[in-house]
Amino acid sequence: MSPVGVLCAIPQELAYLADNLIAPEISEAAGMRFHTGRLDGAPVVLAQAGMGKVNAAIASTLLIERFGCRLVLFSGIAGGLDPDLAVGDVVIADHVVQHDAGYHSEAGFTVYQAGHLPFFSPHEGLGLMADATLLARVQGALADLALAPLAATDSPRPPRLHVGRVLTGDQFIGSESLRERLFRELGGAAVEMEGAAMAQVCAAFGVPWLVIRALSDLAGAQSHFDFRLFLEEVALSSALIVRRLLPVL
Ligand code: ADE
Repeated sequence: MSPVGVLCAIPQELAYLADNLIAPEISEAAGMRFHTGRLDGAPVVLAQAGMGKVNAAIASTLLIERFGCRLVLFSGIAGGLDPDLAVGDVVIADHVVQHDAGYHSEAGFTVYQAGHLPFFSPHEGLGLMADATLLARVQGALADLALAPLAATDSPRPPRLHVGRVLTGDQFIGSESLRERLFRELGGAAVEMEGAAMAQVCAAFGVPWLVIRALSDLAGAQSHFDFRLFLEEVALSSALIVRRLLPVL
């Protein structure tokens, strides 16, 4: 069977998956490292792309064209936008939107405005929807998932799994006013820097995609601090979900 591609941006997101790879082989392309092997019985290719949309697009293209991946998923961290979410919660995208593409004015965001910015996206839709059948299978496989509480929080509740919209842009968000605006105007549950670019490449090649993100911070004034504090722990919880999903993908 052809492999599943697993895209990560930073080493901490990839570490646990790479450490558990059976018969690993490492190769390099476009300055990126690709780890081929088996994980929980499934052939996989892990890619460490670096941060941002262009890196994600290069790595996704290589995973599909060079490594023949039949599905590409992102595993990693994100900033929470929905005030009901907490650090440690995991968001699986049912919809991805590039929040930094389009028109941004005092009146609000206009993303992919049909008829005005056709060069951003050949389909002129607002972002991309995840494959409904794949998402249903993923939700079924995670129905009894119990996420472990984080070591370094005093959160009154254990982490939750949430399915919702993930926003992508070439910006690390550390502003309460922007967080509030991204939530209110674009309906994002979480924000990160790669998912929608990966999805756009996958859609162009007709390959299904999945974005799994554990929240390292809440995209406000504390986000740089929280990101460093929680990065490793939440990257691991995303990677553990990937391992649980691989047998059903
Ligand atoms: N990834 C993790 N936290 C993030 C944030 N606050 N903004 C963008 N990407 C992130």
